[in-house]
Amino acid sequence: MTTREIQDEIIRLKKEKNICVLAHAYMTRDICEVADFVGDSFGLSEQAAKGDAETVIMCGVRFMAETCKLLSPQKKVILSSPIAGCPMAEQIEKDELIALKETYPGYTTVCYINTTTDLKTECDVCVTSSSAVKIIKNIDNDKILFVPDCNLGDFVKSQIPEKQFAFVRGGCPTHLRISVKDVEAAKAAHPDALILMHPECHPRVAALADFLGSTTGIMAYAEKSEHKEFLIGTENSIIQHLQFACPDKSFYPVSKDCVCHNMRATTLVDVLNCVNGTSGEEITLSEETMAKARRCIDEMLRLG
Ligand code: 13P
Ligand code: SF4
Repeated sequence: MTTREIQDEIIRLKKEKNICVLAHAYMTRDICEVADFVGDSFGLSEQAAKGDAETVIMCGVRFMAETCKLLSPQKKVILSSPIAGCPMAEQIEKDELIALKETYPGYTTVCYINTTTDLKTECDVCVTSSSAVKIIKNIDNDKILFVPDCNLGDFVKSQIPEKQFAFVRGGCPTHLRISVKDVEAAKAAHPDALILMHPECHPRVAALADFLGSTTGIMAYAEKSEHKEFLIGTENSIIQHLQFACPDKSFYPVSKDCVCHNMRATTLVDVLNCVNGTSGEEITLSEETMAKARRCIDEMLRLG
């Protein structure tokens, strides 16, 4: 089958079976083209919750499908590729977090959305990369224990110097592949380009950015900007999406190595096999786990 034939079959089956397909912006172009929504993980889960589709296929990684299930417990939620995890989301075990909370009494425990549902059951407030600063500013406590991404945590701390932060070692192995040398070499090759980076990058690297933001934040910035050349410091898949959205502008990777293999795990044929019911993994979470994990998400919505 050609790419076009596979895409047509996915669209036909989606309609026939009332299925909603979500694609994180790090998915490849062929998948984004057949998705009902493309964006970041929480935004996608919110869109799916608003719709009437009985089945939702999350093309992304496991924590994203779990978030989708938390927001739509009555729907059948399928993770497009059962092997697609997120190394950062799985960096801290619940037992470790319980011990950490004892080390930091009086702190509010804030978790990045990129965490397992199990870990969320022990957190007070959840944040996304785009909402972290606003939500943590609104928390009625000056002491914040932030897990698991100390790089995003460092960025938030720089924006809210009046609060006290505790971090754990952690971070996204994909964004951590971008080095200061990579940024310097890319800037030397494209001196007129603006540098747009994700706060999951190391603070020394992030300090060199002209703009720091979430994936959708970076895309919106590049699309609206009058500038013509951009160096992209996040997962390289969005370079192609930006080239399609703005063919009159030029986009270059800061590092050729900023590729997330977990995000690459899903192929267009996986999506076809999910809509025809022969592949993917249905996300199942106990009522108790969902109720406990949902609290930190509700708190994020209240504070945001
Ligand atoms: P956002 O899409 O929320 O910016 O997250 C980036 C990321 O690494 C997702 O796994
Ligand atoms: Fe996880 Fe980083 Fe990959 Fe996102 S890019 S899924 S945070 S490893």
